[in-house]
Amino acid sequence: MRDFTYYAPTKVVFGRDSVAKTGALVKEYGGTKVLVVYGGGSAVRSGLLDKVTASLDAEGIGYVTLGGVKPNPRLGLCLQGIDLARSEGVDFLLPVGGGSVIDTAKCIAYGMANEGDVWDFYCKKRTVQAALPLGAVLTISAAGSEMSDSSVITNEDGMIKRGYSSDYGRCRFAVMDPQLTMTLPAYQTASGCVDILMHTMERYFTKEDDTMLTDQLAEGLMRTVMDNARILVREPDSYNARAQIMWAGSLSHNGLLGCGMEEDWASHQIEHELSAAFDVAHGAGLAAVWGSWARYVVKVKPQRFAQYAVNVCGVPLVSEDPLVTAEKGIVATEQFFHEIGMPVNIAELGIDLKEDQIKELARKCSNDGTREIGGFMKIDRAGMEEIYRMARG
Ligand code: NZQ
Ligand code: ZN
Repeated sequence: MRDFTYYAPTKVVFGRDSVAKTGALVKEYGGTKVLVVYGGGSAVRSGLLDKVTASLDAEGIGYVTLGGVKPNPRLGLCLQGIDLARSEGVDFLLPVGGGSVIDTAKCIAYGMANEGDVWDFYCKKRTVQAALPLGAVLTISAAGSEMSDSSVITNEDGMIKRGYSSDYGRCRFAVMDPQLTMTLPAYQTASGCVDILMHTMERYFTKEDDTMLTDQLAEGLMRTVMDNARILVREPDSYNARAQIMWAGSLSHNGLLGCGMEEDWASHQIEHELSAAFDVAHGAGLAAVWGSWARYVVKVKPQRFAQYAVNVCGVPLVSEDPLVTAEKGIVATEQFFHEIGMPVNIAELGIDLKEDQIKELARKCSNDGTREIGGFMKIDRAGMEEIYRMARG
């Protein structure tokens, strides 16, 4: 087991009608003038935004709003948000939405508290030294940004999607009412479930031994997500299934399941280029590349994939050779993706990937051949090309 630091400072207020507590939470954390950030309209249509602003009014907290965050959020709107927040004297950020909205708010929080070009942080040229405080009202179980230290932004100049991680970006609080996720289209619900699984797998597929407790937490979480994602296909209004998945979404990405592990994140890096170039839903993009990544790396430690197959997918141990069991686990995962309406290759995302596009995706993913990705197995530019080729479908 590796040494680790575990830091999860976000206060979670979970359950039915928890949104009414938002204003009091902002006050508790010192906000007096709030920038409410939201997406393309779902929070307006559902009446959620009115509930949030009513709870701010009830506490006498002033606010301005910034809507229009797109999935795979763009830098341009973040810069607009920084200008608006400065001119309005904002001292607290309140994203109402999913990962895209929360990540936009984190970027604004960095831009408000640090001099210079905020994109420098995402390019790893500088590190954040402070941030405006923020708290989130979560509307989709997926990215885990409500408890994570990450923010992922796409620069329209070249469509470069990059993540930045800093404890300054941790939300002070997260309001989580599973009922809010009932207005999600089935595709977004399923895509979110894949992302939650992947945040767990990116940590679970490790070369580290002696990780029994973290393994069992991860395996339990993955089984929970798979079982409840299947329930939601049949019963999208199941509060319990939505509640299990919502809590799993936060725990999968707040660092808990990385304790003692060497993490991987190659599938995420490979996917980020896809969603930057083709604007696909992040979770769906992960489903499309994961099987190819798994088959590319499995030989590094087939026992690990066999353990996953048995403990998560319920595959019986049929062979002495762990590679056989491992492959059955990969197939079972792909069957699960199909069951919930997710793709298992890039063609199923509706993209006919050409060879020159594969080369371009790998060029960007490898920063022009200057970086390798992955922990379970290091993957260079040629390896990235191969995985995109395998995933083409
Ligand atoms: O914009 P609106 O109208 O709100 O619609 C959104 C959007 O179209 C819709 N939606 C959200 N809540 C809804 C709803 N529709 C109806 N009812 C609701 N309650 O869902 C769509 C997707 O929203 P988005 O915020 O993009 O989803 P998600 O949470 O999956 O976030 C994806 C982004 O997060 C990044 C991804 O790369 C992607 O850019 N990630 C962020 C991470 C982090 N900060 O820790 C980690 C992840 O690995 C991920 O990379
Ligand atoms: Zn993700």
